[in-house]
Formats: sequence, structure tokens, C-alpha cells
Amino acid sequence: MKLIRVNNYQEMSRMGAKEIIKFVNKNPQGVLGLATGSSPIGLYKELVSDYQQNSTNYAEITSFNLDEYVGIDKNNPQSYYYFMMQHLFQHINIKENNINIPNGSAKDLKEECESYEDKLRFCPIDIQILGIGANGHIGFNEPGTSVNSRVHIAELDKKTRIDNARFFYSLEEVPTYAITMGIKNIMEAKKIILLAYGEEKAQAVYSMLKGDVTEKMPASILRKHPNITIIADHKATVLLDALGDQEASV
Ligand code: GLP
Repeated sequence: MKLIRVNNYQEMSRMGAKEIIKFVNKNPQGVLGLATGSSPIGLYKELVSDYQQNSTNYAEITSFNLDEYVGIDKNNPQSYYYFMMQHLFQHINIKENNINIPNGSAKDLKEECESYEDKLRFCPIDIQILGIGANGHIGFNEPGTSVNSRVHIAELDKKTRIDNARFFYSLEEVPTYAITMGIKNIMEAKKIILLAYGEEKAQAVYSMLKGDVTEKMPASILRKHPNITIIADHKATVLLDALGDQEASV
């Protein structure tokens, strides 16, 4: 596990984007695992500006998103599909057919989970981008989710709904369920880049790195991954710094 401390959001975004661009150039048919939320927006912005300047080629790249809200149609501006189109996909030359995002408005959600799982089985993820919830969730794998979980329907924590309410008009509008890759799916990615910024993430970052490895703190399971880099700004590492812990910093 490598922890890279950076000064701010922009540095975090640039560093993450650099890794992705390097990977795409070397592996034009690679498979990217993508995340939503405010953490990766800057990274996507960097990918778009690199695409405009250097024509990095995404024509044969495949992508899999971590999750999608249940009951929200893909054309709804609150959907993660819409988010990805707006922040990344419509600006680069990735093919629509190569974009995979769970369908949260599928009639049969169980079948949707199984079909997403099948696609992942045939197309293992090379690099997975992750954010982290203030309660330590990854994707929508909330505290208590099994380490063996695969694509499933997750009930959102109260805390997660409150945190995500900023993207909706009211808390009542925030969906209660989501389809999410499970922890096992995430752990199967060959490489993981986790982005964390801001003081709201300080406790989660601290527990992820220094607490017990436990299902109560889903991100702590990532300590068992053989190839994970955490890029975090100084606000997100403030509790580690208080320990005088500069271990693994660059
Ligand atoms: C959501 C997403 C997660 C994301 C988390 C943190 O709940 N399902 O994938 O990591 O929020 O979001 P943010 O980056 O906005 O803090």
C-alpha cells in the first residue's frame, strides 16, 4: 500500500490522471474501473484536457462504473450515468458500447446484478479509481458489507444519504438503494487508486490505514490489496500527521 500525500485537490487530480493516461497509452485495450462523487471530478477534468491536447486514445478502452442508484433513470441528471457522461464520456472518444454502468432502473434488479457480474468476469478491471465515504464505504459497500460481496443491491447508510443529499433538492429525494460492485469485485482489480481529500475524510483515512482490518470499515479491507495507491491531501491525512506518522509518504 502506497500513500502519496499531496497539497491540494488539484495535485491529487493531476497525479491520479497521470497514472490513468500512462496506463491508457500503454494498454489501449485496457479496462478502467471508474467512480463518481466529487473526489474524481478533477481527475476526469484532467483526462479531458489531456485528450484535447494529446489525443490520448480511448477508442478500445472499456470502462466499468462502481455503482448506480436504484430507481433513477440514466437520463436523470442525478444518475451516475449522467454524471459520467457530463464529466468524462461525452468529452473523449470512448465508445458507448464499451461503457458499463449498472442500470438502476432495470425491471429485474437481481438479474441486472447478475449480468453486471458476468460482464466483469469476462473483462477484469486493470485500474480501479475509488473515492471513500466519510463512513469508510467504497462504492456503496457500507459498513458491515461482507468481504466476499459481489455485485449486489445495497441499502444506503443514513450517513451516506445525508452526505449525498447535496446533489439532490432534499434528503427525501436521495435514493435508499443502489446497485454496487461488491468488495470482492473491487479487490479483484489489478490496481487501485483511491482519492481522498478534505477534512471530512480524515477519520476514514485514518481508520482505513491504522485501524483494524474489519468489515465495519470497508476501506480497511483494501490494506490486503497487493497494488493500491492512496492519493490524499493534507486535510485528509491530518489525523495521521498528528501521530507524527510520515511512513510511506513521498
Ligand atoms: C458515493 C459513491 C462512492 C464515493 C463516495 C464519496 O457514495 N458511491 O463511490 O466514493 O460517494 O464521494 P465524494 O467523493 O463526493 O466524497
